[in-house]
Amino acid sequence: MESSIFQGKVALITGSSRGIGNAIALAFARAGADIVVNYRRAGGSSEEQANKVCEEIRTMGCTAYLVQADISQKESVRALMNEVSEKSGRVDFLILNAARTPFKPLEKLLEREIRQLVDTNYIGNIFCIQAAIPLLEKSSGKIVFISSLGSRFYNESYPLGSMKAAMESVVRDCAEGLKPKKISVNAVCGGIVKTDSFKVLRQLWEEIAHIPESLFVEPDEIADVVMFLCSDASRAICGQTIVVDHGFSNRLYQPIQKQ
Ligand SMILES: NC(=O)c1ccc[n+]([C@@H]2O[C@H](COP(=O)([O-])OP(=O)(O)OC[C@H]3O[C@@H](n4cnc5c(N)ncnc54)[C@H](OP(=O)(O)O)[C@@H]3O)[C@@H](O)[C@H]2O)c1
Repeated sequence: MESSIFQGKVALITGSSRGIGNAIALAFARAGADIVVNYRRAGGSSEEQANKVCEEIRTMGCTAYLVQADISQKESVRALMNEVSEKSGRVDFLILNAARTPFKPLEKLLEREIRQLVDTNYIGNIFCIQAAIPLLEKSSGKIVFISSLGSRFYNESYPLGSMKAAMESVVRDCAEGLKPKKISVNAVCGGIVKTDSFKVLRQLWEEIAHIPESLFVEPDEIADVVMFLCSDASRAICGQTIVVDHGFSNRLYQPIQKQ
């Protein structure tokens, strides 16, 4: 990506203290954008990591704004957007990356886990879209949602998949709904990436040991496609979800058991 392609623009990446969000934040900074780094948990390792990302962005010559906010809380999202608006005056790119899930079968989820799943991964993303519209409208901005293969394949330990499927529909709906405001909306559906959440999934999914190393995805490989979707080169893509998985999903199948 050309080093100054996003100079003068502002990218807000939810959940960018670590993992894929961190890689996306740094990719935007390499392309010259100023970055809003967001995280949820105040006072712990997430905040430390978020501070580190901000320092790294600043050494690259870009501005980094650090904003703690829980996207599942409407007031928190409103405060996030107000702070961004006051400090940077604009948002060109909203990257819906934050996610949080229990790793256990849907039928075993406690009521508070079900609510947290929906509040963070569905309602929270919609809060972010709604709150960012006034700023995105001014910049003919772009929204990119980070989905996962759970949106289309069954894994008993991954109830987040159903939220990802719902959000892929939201992406299509918003792409059409926000067209008059010249806001583009698309998604990147990532294969398996070795982040903190992968460490938990690995303990619950035996077959993961059989997946060849070449089929894992690097955080930067997701970030590169996010950059593409935020660039003018993607201008004809509308409401789509692009799968980035080294072909892993081409090979997914479950042997059918004899009845
Ligand atoms: N890892 C994979 O294999 C994979 C594959 C495909 C897609 N994805 C998707 O890519 C995205 C990032 O995944 P990851 O593995 O990098 O995740 P991760 O390492 O678990 O990091 C999640 C980030 O989201 C933040 N977050 C969680 N709940 C939040 C909330 N309510 N409000 C604001 N921020 C919140 C976390 O901050 P705190 O630590 O402060 O809570 C953290 O910064 C997710 O949408 C995930 O579903 C992941």
